Amino acid sequence: MAELTLKQIRKSFGALEVIKGIDLEVRSGEFVVFVGPSGCGKSTLLRIIAGLEESTSGSLTIGEKDVTHAEPSERGIAMVFQSYALYPHMTVAENIGFGLSLARRPKAEIEAKVRAAADTLQLSQLLDRKPKQLSGGQRQRVAIGRAIVRDPKVFLFDEPLSNLDASLRAQMRLEISELHARLKTTMIYVTHDQVEAMTMADKIVVLKGGAIEQVGSPMELYRHPATPFVAGFIGSPRMNLYSGEIAERFGCKTYGIRPEHIKLSETDGQWQGKVRHVERLGAEAIIHLDITDMGEMVARAEGETPFAPGSMVWANPVEGAAHRFNF
Ligand SMILES: Nc1ncnc2c1ncn2[C@@H]1O[C@H](COP(=O)(O)OP(=O)(O)O)[C@@H](O)[C@H]1O
Ligand SMILES: [Mg+2]
Repeated sequence: MAELTLKQIRKSFGALEVIKGIDLEVRSGEFVVFVGPSGCGKSTLLRIIAGLEESTSGSLTIGEKDVTHAEPSERGIAMVFQSYALYPHMTVAENIGFGLSLARRPKAEIEAKVRAAADTLQLSQLLDRKPKQLSGGQRQRVAIGRAIVRDPKVFLFDEPLSNLDASLRAQMRLEISELHARLKTTMIYVTHDQVEAMTMADKIVVLKGGAIEQVGSPMELYRHPATPFVAGFIGSPRMNLYSGEIAERFGCKTYGIRPEHIKLSETDGQWQGKVRHVERLGAEAIIHLDITDMGEMVARAEGETPFAPGSMVWANPVEGAAHRFNF
């Protein structure tokens, strides 16, 4: 069942159209990630779903109900932002329960819901603290708690982890995924980070310039990118992409091969070149090459690599792994 349906959603700010006719269905319980470069319209689309921004045209239904013109409070959604804006003078418990207090819910109900949310988010021991006594990750969990107590049909997240450092981001990524597995509530999550999209999503929506470039599961997008843009955006290190005269040699307009699909040899192969730089990460190595008549190419090798900067090398694409686009 579709929890959320967007039909031909458009949005202009003055003469500038930033959302260009989005059609999308989100199923009940699905974890959907909107991903795309900065400025492609992710936040605007999420804010239209939340009702914080009105679409210029198109329609939106949430749980069978047309909410195109409904107030945010009538939509059954809760939103978590990058800047979590906790009230500094309130405790964790008061911050989590604030929306319920405003709505004048009974005290016992507020306490029960705050306790349940705190349990879910491992904040039970911290309920009496003030925000300044919390780590960044704990603060973000309080912001999520504030959303949970509202018992929404749909959670909306706008880059909630962007302010956290790398290791905390990885931990929170896991926590939000586990939260989704427990709550089984529909979630829409906006990020510019393809790793977050790949690791968290049931379904990824790749946006570019206010339009949908491709929709699919993480592995569908990895295996079968529909466009060179998706090919270059999904996967790390980035796919090697060649256009123009180089691609013509391969019978297409854009030729792509992922770093993990290039095998290096000291003795023979399809493309010859020189090692420019090697990044040794322990479990893997990223090898930057200059290939004769092709230019830059990046290869990824498991474990250690015998290749050193300056050495001559042959590069071989794994059979059937290349991507050919006719645009
Ligand atoms: N209130 C606004 N007024 C004018 N332009 C806006 C407004 N909000 C967003 N934009 C423009 O819309 C485009 C999409 O912005 P946004 O949705 O914030 O992108 P993203 O979240 O993907 O980085 C950008 O070009 C941005 O400058
Ligand atoms: Mg944004």
